[in-house]
Amino acid sequence: MINGSTRVVGVIGDPVDHTASPAMHNAAFKDLGLDYIYVAFRVGNAELSEAVKGMRALNMAGMNVTVPHKKAVMAYLDVISPEARAIGAVNTIVNKDGKLIGHNTDAFGFTKSVDLEGTFKEWPQTVVLLGAGGAARAVLFALLQRPEVERIHLINRTLVRGELLANEMDSEGRVYTGSMSDSEWAEVGLLINSTSVGLFPDVTSLPLRDASVIRPDMLVVDIIYKPLQTQLMLKAGECGATAMNGLGMLVWQGVRAFELWTGVIPRSEIMISAALENMK
Ligand code: ATR
Repeated sequence: MINGSTRVVGVIGDPVDHTASPAMHNAAFKDLGLDYIYVAFRVGNAELSEAVKGMRALNMAGMNVTVPHKKAVMAYLDVISPEARAIGAVNTIVNKDGKLIGHNTDAFGFTKSVDLEGTFKEWPQTVVLLGAGGAARAVLFALLQRPEVERIHLINRTLVRGELLANEMDSEGRVYTGSMSDSEWAEVGLLINSTSVGLFPDVTSLPLRDASVIRPDMLVVDIIYKPLQTQLMLKAGECGATAMNGLGMLVWQGVRAFELWTGVIPRSEIMISAALENMK
């Protein structure tokens, strides 16, 4: 029951009407008997600073931040975590006694989901990352945190955007943006799609020009979760490779945000089933 002491958290973004986060977090609050409520606020660019001020004025416990505000919101916060600073985006705000702290839990979500659902014992040495947009930044940061990953081939439609991202985030020469030879493809153990190609309603599109580069011993990760089975995942399955979607990343970034707000680790399975139910 919502009462006089219920703490409020939520998400700001535009659009937000299809977000699964309220369902996920409210199910976990209920499961743990925590007196919190999670709501979605549609906030346009022009209202972003007022929304953040309002969060402080209303003493909300925290907030998720989604497209298109993950970068712009940083200007209105008091502290940015080193991880969020390196990624260049905030997806979670914690209100600590009026001080707004910006975090990024997307990279954690990606790594945790691959650790749990991935089929390899060790992260592979060679990885291909498709995309260089907002979502790619968190994935690239996560990959660069893995010492096992020696080579990351970053492939993007707009070459210069990929080069800029590689130059910005990679100081060790582990990210390559040139075209790939067949022998380089043969080394790839992990292929990740962080582009929006294949996202609903564009469900028949493939983010790769040629799916024959997929081999049975590759793990193919699509960070899209709508649809739950993308065209890329379908092709991966046909090639005998293991494929996973972005539902795990969504849930685990939420698990970490929940923990940052409440100090309690929620049950991920509760959040997974709430997200799945919400997507029906
Ligand atoms: P997000 O925040 O979801 O990552 P974004 O920052 O707009 O969104 O990035 C979208 C990514 O998908 C980019 O890598 C984009 O490639 P460009 O940098 O060339 O724009 C990629 N993308 C989107 N539509 C695409 C398409 N039809 N073909 C290939 N790549 C596409």
